[in-house]
Amino acid sequence: MTAPSHPPQIRERTIAKARVLIEALPFMREHWGKVVVVKVGGATMERAPLSRSFAEDVSLLLHAGIHPVVVHGGGPQVTEVSERFGLEASFVNGVRVTDRETLDVATMVLAGQISTRIVGLLIAGDVPAVGLSGVDGGLAVARRQAEPDLGYVGEIVRVNAEVVRTLMAKGFVPVVASIAADAEGHPYNVNADVMAAELAIGLEADKLVYANDVPGVIGPAGDLLSELGVQDALDLLANGTVVDGGMIPKLESAVRALKAGVSRVHLLDGRVEHSLVLELFTPEGVGTMITPDRTASGDAP
Ligand SMILES: Nc1ncnc2c1ncn2[C@@H]1O[C@H](COP(=O)(O)OP(=O)(O)OP(=O)(O)O)[C@@H](O)[C@H]1O
Ligand SMILES: [Mg+2]
Repeated sequence: MTAPSHPPQIRERTIAKARVLIEALPFMREHWGKVVVVKVGGATMERAPLSRSFAEDVSLLLHAGIHPVVVHGGGPQVTEVSERFGLEASFVNGVRVTDRETLDVATMVLAGQISTRIVGLLIAGDVPAVGLSGVDGGLAVARRQAEPDLGYVGEIVRVNAEVVRTLMAKGFVPVVASIAADAEGHPYNVNADVMAAELAIGLEADKLVYANDVPGVIGPAGDLLSELGVQDALDLLANGTVVDGGMIPKLESAVRALKAGVSRVHLLDGRVEHSLVLELFTPEGVGTMITPDRTASGDAP
């Protein structure tokens, strides 16, 4: 008796599915056991369908042996609630000017509303997420940023990754809001891109991924720049006309992370479903990849 065989179309489809999985194998091997910091921007998170796919992506990372750490922003949401309180939002080089009232709003919105929303979403997607801010467990110690002085805007002076490592070792996914306290316990508003880069450095992450409401870094001709080196990024920042607003702290943070040993920074369109999985597990890179510059000997530093 011969074994029943499937019709040819079904066989082809089944094999194609298997091929996709097999093609992901080298990427899974490459990323296994590594820390990947994923920063999700506020604008990206406004879209509910994307959010579900984001939970699926984080779940896949987790089950592929990656240790994901999520950091979130919330620019549009902080602005909206500030306006409800009659506070006007203003920015200098893409960083929010933060007076006492705005700091209260940022703390409520970031460490309260948005953190709870993201953790809830991930939990609903079977990802064991735990929300914390830079204040919890002394994760990120800040001081008031002096240059320029933007009020209660903090810069990170130290990362104590112990709390995050402990969570990750037990299989939890930390979700970090970008509020950090100084040595006296006073809270500061930290730009979320800066927080993500500092955590990536402190956790010796392999990759830092910025999920944005744009496809990546847009160049002078209006086209997507798919690959940049550190010097290219510095040149774009120095140019003064190509990069503005929230892209300034993002590129500055990317450069800092790459110089401190993070091997890749990716900027991708968080509005595109499964962009994270596409970036990590397929040969088709999406968005912009920033890499360390090669040294004269040809080696990455
Ligand atoms: N050259 C550029 N390429 C791409 N985006 C740019 C460029 N210059 C400025 N931008 C702006 O940077 C924005 C992204 O930074 P923004 O701070 O607004 O978002 P985010 O960091 O993802 O969110 P959040 O601040 O809430 O964490 C884009 O929406 C775009 O308007
Ligand atoms: Mg931003």
